[in-house]
Amino acid sequence: MLRPILKYGDRILHDRAQRVEAVTPEIERLVDDMVETMYAAPGVGLAAPQIGVPLRIFVVDISIGRDPAGLLVLINPEFVERDGLQLEEEGCLSVPGFNATVMRPSRAVVKGLDRAGNEHRHDATGLLARAFQHEMDHLDGTLFVDRLRGIKRDLIVRRIKKLTRAGKW
Ligand code: NI
Repeated sequence: MLRPILKYGDRILHDRAQRVEAVTPEIERLVDDMVETMYAAPGVGLAAPQIGVPLRIFVVDISIGRDPAGLLVLINPEFVERDGLQLEEEGCLSVPGFNATVMRPSRAVVKGLDRAGNEHRHDATGLLARAFQHEMDHLDGTLFVDRLRGIKRDLIVRRIKKLTRAGKW
């Protein structure tokens, strides 16, 4: 089932999400909804808080459905290792119409449970490493806008406030 994607300013997006206690059929359905919503958007990643569920789950597919092996589901993900540095343009389905250059480690090793409840470890570089870190941020209530500083951040926040006041956000 397609779920509406919350936008910057919605409380759930700015709060820390809770751990999943058990991978139940409800959690499996939630994951299926997240995958469907991510592909429909389309996006390379989606975290549960973005559809209003404050749980530590995200889905990622940097091939956006072109590679069947590209879909990764992470439940209760944790960083194992991070190193290097990359500086690339980033956007977010919860901040439509905006993007900015964000500094991130260039490599990230993340472990978490899949849709069946089995633990996996993913060693990622480049775009996948960036996607992991962007989605992990969502689970801690951080959006890419929060990682910007100064004028760039103020400009985006001000424009979002203006759009909100105009009822266009
Ligand atoms: Ni995002």
